[in-house]
Amino acid sequence: MSKRVEFIYLQQEDCVKAGGFDMKGSMQAVERSFFLHGKDDFIQPGKPVIRWGGPETEETTGRIMSMPSFLGGSDYADDMKERGMLGPVNTSGIKFIPSKPHNPSKHGLPRANAVIIIVDEDTLMPACIMDGTLVSAMRTGAASGVAAKYLANPDSTVMGLVGASVQGITQTLALKEGVPSLKICKIYDLNRDTTQKFIEKMKDLVDMEFVIAESAEEAFRGSDVISTATMAKQPYVNSDWYKEGAFHCEISFWDTPPEALIDMDVIVVDDWGQVSHHGVDVSYRAVRDGFIDESKIRGNLGDIIVGKTTGRSHSREKIFFNPIGMGIHDLSEAHRVYENAKAKGIGKTLPLWDNPILE
Ligand SMILES: NC(=O)c1ccc[n+]([C@@H]2O[C@H](COP(=O)([O-])OP(=O)(O)OC[C@H]3O[C@@H](n4cnc5c(N)ncnc54)[C@H](O)[C@@H]3O)[C@@H](O)[C@H]2O)c1
Repeated sequence: MSKRVEFIYLQQEDCVKAGGFDMKGSMQAVERSFFLHGKDDFIQPGKPVIRWGGPETEETTGRIMSMPSFLGGSDYADDMKERGMLGPVNTSGIKFIPSKPHNPSKHGLPRANAVIIIVDEDTLMPACIMDGTLVSAMRTGAASGVAAKYLANPDSTVMGLVGASVQGITQTLALKEGVPSLKICKIYDLNRDTTQKFIEKMKDLVDMEFVIAESAEEAFRGSDVISTATMAKQPYVNSDWYKEGAFHCEISFWDTPPEALIDMDVIVVDDWGQVSHHGVDVSYRAVRDGFIDESKIRGNLGDIIVGKTTGRSHSREKIFFNPIGMGIHDLSEAHRVYENAKAKGIGKTLPLWDNPILE
């Protein structure tokens, strides 16, 4: 009997060929993982983080996170099919994601890079090892897009974006996908070249008018849907800037001061246990430091998707979505890309070994 173990290796270009840069597909994958999260059909230990100081050093010297998870789905296959979702996953994986803030300016490289391993559900041997950098950026955008689909006002027309780099791009692709009525995107980034590059790229990808804002305040004021995706080290958001009914996704950590959450009507996270464990997100710090009561955290988005709790109840509510980022999203999206790659014969088959020397 052959003891050779092989896995598929997907470099980023392979992931793109396998549909990894298709936001519609990424949002389907991420809605699936939110759904299974709401059904408790997942395993997701708290993320171990290596950092060389306190939480604030993630924005200066960087960090490395490891995000293992399992996603099921078999028990809900019919329900998922009825809702038009992708099918069950039934396996596990891990994303290893270092972040070095000086990479863009010092090396012209992305701040974050990632590698994902998906295992074979029967043997738990590696089935796929892939670039996770694209998966990670797409699933983060997709989580905001799915949240906007459930929590933003569906007639929203104006989007405000602060931070126009990698995550700003996927936030915009996804928010437009989640709220197709969006027509204008106002962008503010500290770096004007980044804003220009963003507009150059996005004008061919998304049907929206792109306008440069001169300040974060200008990007916020009058916006129905807002995303903050920066490497800010100090809070700069003022709660007076929100219009009635605004929906704000804060995917970065230090943009909004905890006291601004007092003026929010509803706060939703992706996983309150993980948010509390990581201890950096503003929704957690607002509770910890006594600005808001924990009861103001409405819950996890997956619970809203499966109907365990309610989302928006009227158009005037200001809603704040504060995701920590879940390993199950990486697994669900990576699995979608891997399945596409297998079906299309994309990627290289590599051996782990021909014969294990020890057994
Ligand atoms: N919650 C999640 O699931 C999740 C997942 C991935 C990334 N993130 C976060 O998203 C953020 C952005 O990631 P990225 O890869 O795009 O980073 P990046 O370093 O490539 O870009 C950050 C951008 O923010 C801009 N910026 C910094 N401070 C600013 C400020 N005060 N006002 C306006 N613009 C400012 C910079 O000029 C830069 O263009 C990071 O904080 C990262 O940790 C969150």
